[in-house]
Amino acid sequence: MGAFKEPHGGELRNLYLPAEQAEAEKEAAGGCASWDLTDRQLCDIELLLNGAFSPLGGFLNKEDYDSVVKTMRLKSGVLWPMPITLDVSEDFAETIKTGDKVALRDLEGVIVATMTVGDIWTPDKKVEAEGVYGTSDDRHPAVHYLNNIAHPVYVGGKLKGVEAPTHYDFKHLRDSPAEMRHRLKKLGWRKVVAFQTRNPMHRAHQEITLRAARDVEANLLIHPVVGMTKPGDVDHYTRVRCYEHILAHYPEQTSMLSLLPLAMRMGGPREALWHAIIRKNYGCTHIIIGRDHAGPGKDSSGEDFYGPYDAQELLKQHEEELDISMVPFQMMVYAENRAQYIAIDEATDEDQVLNISGTELRRRLQEGLEIPEWFSFPEVVTELRRTHPPRHKQGFTVFFTGLSGSGKSTIANALMSKLMEIGGRQISLLDGDIVRKNLSSELGFSKEHRDLNIRRIGFVASEITRNGGIAICAPIAPYAATRRQVREAIAPFGGFIEIHVSTPLEICEERDRKGLYALARVGKIKEFTGISDPYENPQNAEMVIDTIGISPDLAAHRILVKLESMGFIR
Ligand code: PPS
Repeated sequence: MGAFKEPHGGELRNLYLPAEQAEAEKEAAGGCASWDLTDRQLCDIELLLNGAFSPLGGFLNKEDYDSVVKTMRLKSGVLWPMPITLDVSEDFAETIKTGDKVALRDLEGVIVATMTVGDIWTPDKKVEAEGVYGTSDDRHPAVHYLNNIAHPVYVGGKLKGVEAPTHYDFKHLRDSPAEMRHRLKKLGWRKVVAFQTRNPMHRAHQEITLRAARDVEANLLIHPVVGMTKPGDVDHYTRVRCYEHILAHYPEQTSMLSLLPLAMRMGGPREALWHAIIRKNYGCTHIIIGRDHAGPGKDSSGEDFYGPYDAQELLKQHEEELDISMVPFQMMVYAENRAQYIAIDEATDEDQVLNISGTELRRRLQEGLEIPEWFSFPEVVTELRRTHPPRHKQGFTVFFTGLSGSGKSTIANALMSKLMEIGGRQISLLDGDIVRKNLSSELGFSKEHRDLNIRRIGFVASEITRNGGIAICAPIAPYAATRRQVREAIAPFGGFIEIHVSTPLEICEERDRKGLYALARVGKIKEFTGISDPYENPQNAEMVIDTIGISPDLAAHRILVKLESMGFIR
């Protein structure tokens, strides 16, 4: 039946209450336990409520969760590859029990939905990571999220939608599955091929989508993810402006753009299956799956987590059951001699094949270098250049980490003076002691408090960086996962340069400039880093400085040279 295809599991869910009931539900929920949804949960709940995650009727309960993790199926047997769970803190979990009603709120406190509490349990995150993502390596973005960002307890339960999460941007491009089905029906589009993307589209993508639509004689739905994508991706505002430009280059009335507020997990093959189910719910008959679909990058030993065509293979195995057809694609490259794009396996020895990787594109943007017309449309490049000025015009954060007394503050001060001498930039120093006095005066040195302290520093530094300034941070920041969170919060807006001041403990203790080590040794200061509290050495810092061999002046000079070589200062 073309675009009027059955939704996954047979019924397109709509979990929103009718207006009057929603109002009553909201009033009744005012007195219930209340949970503030995280960014990821807000994305998930939007797609649960509007039926994009049909047949789910809420956050998974334990039996469904176990079954999804182990077998990729709900306990009813319906294929469902991704656990959609509500993670909460232990403190919150203690305040609720099965059968209670919980108000689920957005960032501003608005009640989005209520949930009748089903199961409450503490998941085995290692089992989840290995079952769903095939690895427990923290380099995988979803495993990192699971282990270091997600709360420890899961709560399952049915949802009643009260008010859809608000979006103020690109309203004209946001459709629920029901709205999309309605549009497709009105347009008479019976065959629709969906293109999933989290990146700006260039000519190669246009070529893939045009070919796919032509090959299966379908219309095209460009359906980019605007919820959460891979840390470091181009922001969705910029991307959507690029998609709008590129849409004008398709034959009229053949193609459509709509935005999907999905929180991606970068789960490779399982994620591809999930993407297909979602598109089926939106009424699509086909989905394009390219090379390394929803790929998470490389693991700790430098190997790809998944093979480049694993996603295509898994989808192939379930294509019939899913009832949405895959249009598989190989990588497209530009054959200069033919002045056209070809699939990489069509290339012969005579072909002069050109390609610009994502990394190379970023380099060219950062350095203000030429981006050729064969690669992208000029309007798209202009759009990208607007939000990605060359590096010397971007903000950046220099993030020192190291033991107390390692020399972080002294080098940070020296660096600040040298940058001020060069002039022309706004610089803020967020030294450990300054922050503890002005931002974090109520905090101690437990892991929880240290993490909170570092996240606050990261937040301020990301605001400074986003606005084109320079933030110099110099806390101890002993935990690797927290440093990574800060990096991920800042990198999308500018530079993040981590500098490990690696002066060994014996030297820091010998110097003992503040007399704190002596006190820590006799137990008068508890949880002292290096003595009675851990320090996790950075594995991927941009620079390592051991102050035994060099003066603070020379150290600061080396950092300046590094910043210059990276293009952040001229
Ligand atoms: S953290 O872990 O990043 O939050 O620590 P930070 O805010 O940078 O610590 C700032 C200074 O606090 C002093 N101090 C301690 N350090 C480590 N452990 C314990 N228990 C502790 N108690 C007080 C110490 O002087 C840190 O300053 P620096 O500049 O690093 O010497």
